[in-house]
Amino acid sequence: MKIIMLGAPGAGKGTQAIKIAEKYGIPHISTGDIFRANIKNGTELGKKAKEFMDKGALVPDELTCDLVVDRIHQDDCKNGFVLDGFPRTIPQAKALDTALDKDGESIDHAIDIEVPDQNIVKRMGGRRACLNCGATYHIISAPPKTEGICDNCGGKLTIREDDKPQTVQERLSVYHQKTQPLIDYYKKAGILDQVDGTQPLDQVFSMIEEVLD
Ligand code: AP5
Ligand code: MG
Repeated sequence: MKIIMLGAPGAGKGTQAIKIAEKYGIPHISTGDIFRANIKNGTELGKKAKEFMDKGALVPDELTCDLVVDRIHQDDCKNGFVLDGFPRTIPQAKALDTALDKDGESIDHAIDIEVPDQNIVKRMGGRRACLNCGATYHIISAPPKTEGICDNCGGKLTIREDDKPQTVQERLSVYHQKTQPLIDYYKKAGILDQVDGTQPLDQVFSMIEEVLD
């Protein structure tokens, strides 16, 4: 099963993608996590990506598309994948379609998690992220068992650099301008499903399961 997660920053793409990956036995591929791992490791890609991410801007398509196309051709993607945070622009969506088309394949589901902007700003202030394994928590709606420590891997939880209120506003405006048009793109392709992301985590996952099962 080849799945794309759509939705504004903080809509819950990562949270739900991890659950999908676990249930359906497919890898979770988050471009944001890949960039953050590169920043942490001080790679050239990380240095370039950081410039854009810290401002809330998108990393240029030319740094993003090849990376994802390479990743989905790895062995663990044979039975599918769940892409979280990619595509984010129409050219990225087209690059993905072209790459899959070459192998006679296509995306099965584009799941859009709908959350209004005013809920997003509140959510981001409470998010805590594990830079080690990519797990995401929220101090109120999804707290870790031990404060500041990742349940999964024991890593230290941190506040993401781009979760400052001003940067969140910028990310939202970039989302509306560059990423929201993908909703129409996948609607036209007949593979879009929209779920109400303001519901509690488990209810959002149940709605996604209904779409996928
Ligand atoms: P990325 O890491 O993808 O960030 P994002 O899209 O802004 O999304 P987030 O990770 O912030 O939110 P999410 O939807 O995953 O929500 P989460 O599950 O954490 O990208 C970061 C940056 O990298 C971009 O700004 C860009 O610069 C660059 N980049 C990445 N991909 C790129 C690409 N393809 N092209 C160009 N640039 C790219 O949930 C948020 C919080 O809410 C958590 O605390 C969670 O616990 C909580 N929560 C989740 N669901 C619920 C719920 N139902 N109820 C209550 N709380 C909830
Ligand atoms: Mg995420």
